[in-house]
Amino acid sequence: MQVDVVTIFPDYLAPLDLSLIGRARRAGLLSVEVHDLRRWTHDVHRTVDDTPYGGGAGMVMRPEPWGAALDELTAAGRPPARLVVPTPVGERFDQAMAQRLAAEPRLIFACGRYEGIDQRVIDEAAAALPVTEVSLGDFVIFGGEVAVLAILEAVTRLIPGVLGNAGSLVEESHSDGLLEGPVYTKPPQWRGREVPEILRSGDHGRIARWRRDQALLRTASRRPDLIAGLPAGKLDKKDIALLVAAGFQLPAGDVAE
Ligand code: ADE
Repeated sequence: MQVDVVTIFPDYLAPLDLSLIGRARRAGLLSVEVHDLRRWTHDVHRTVDDTPYGGGAGMVMRPEPWGAALDELTAAGRPPARLVVPTPVGERFDQAMAQRLAAEPRLIFACGRYEGIDQRVIDEAAAALPVTEVSLGDFVIFGGEVAVLAILEAVTRLIPGVLGNAGSLVEESHSDGLLEGPVYTKPPQWRGREVPEILRSGDHGRIARWRRDQALLRTASRRPDLIAGLPAGKLDKKDIALLVAAGFQLPAGDVAE
């Protein structure tokens, strides 16, 4: 996958050299180019923002540098790309979106700052290439850079070959619509706390059922919205019996099974 990031703070993206993303880049699975938006400014102050039309607090990013940057990065001969714009008004990011983005050959991220980017940049881009405005959640951060880091961590680990052990993709939180249950490692006792006996039993059938139960109980208590959103048939009779015995209300369709 090829990734371009346009930002006024290229240094914010330095962590992309580290850890598993850095390794994926060195292995040739991922290529990342970070571009300073000010490269596409032409005035002495290298201006990228201005006051909002209609008044109000803060500054808005001017369209000209963004237009020039996106023209250059999407010029004929360059691989086709999807533009991803992190913004608190975007579609909510989740594992399913990470999976869709991981299947794209090329992503261009446009990092907004201040009150955001002039809307005409997004509208103009959308006439030429697919655009996704994406929000990490219902909160506001200073700009898109940290969102890009989070999105790229979620996306690149889904690219085949990036994770050493692809099995960890199967058993992790959100891969099957549930939160993962608790995990333990050595030592078996620590400060008087025991690793659950069943995990040391070697009985893989019972361990799998225990893990499923823990995932169900944790999800029902912390994220009832995820249980309610499971497709019909995702909970079997044992799942339903467990949740009902633990006092959770289930969606009507599941109880009727
Ligand atoms: N930029 C500012 N806030 C954001 C959010 N919640 N998600 C993505 N990008 C943002």
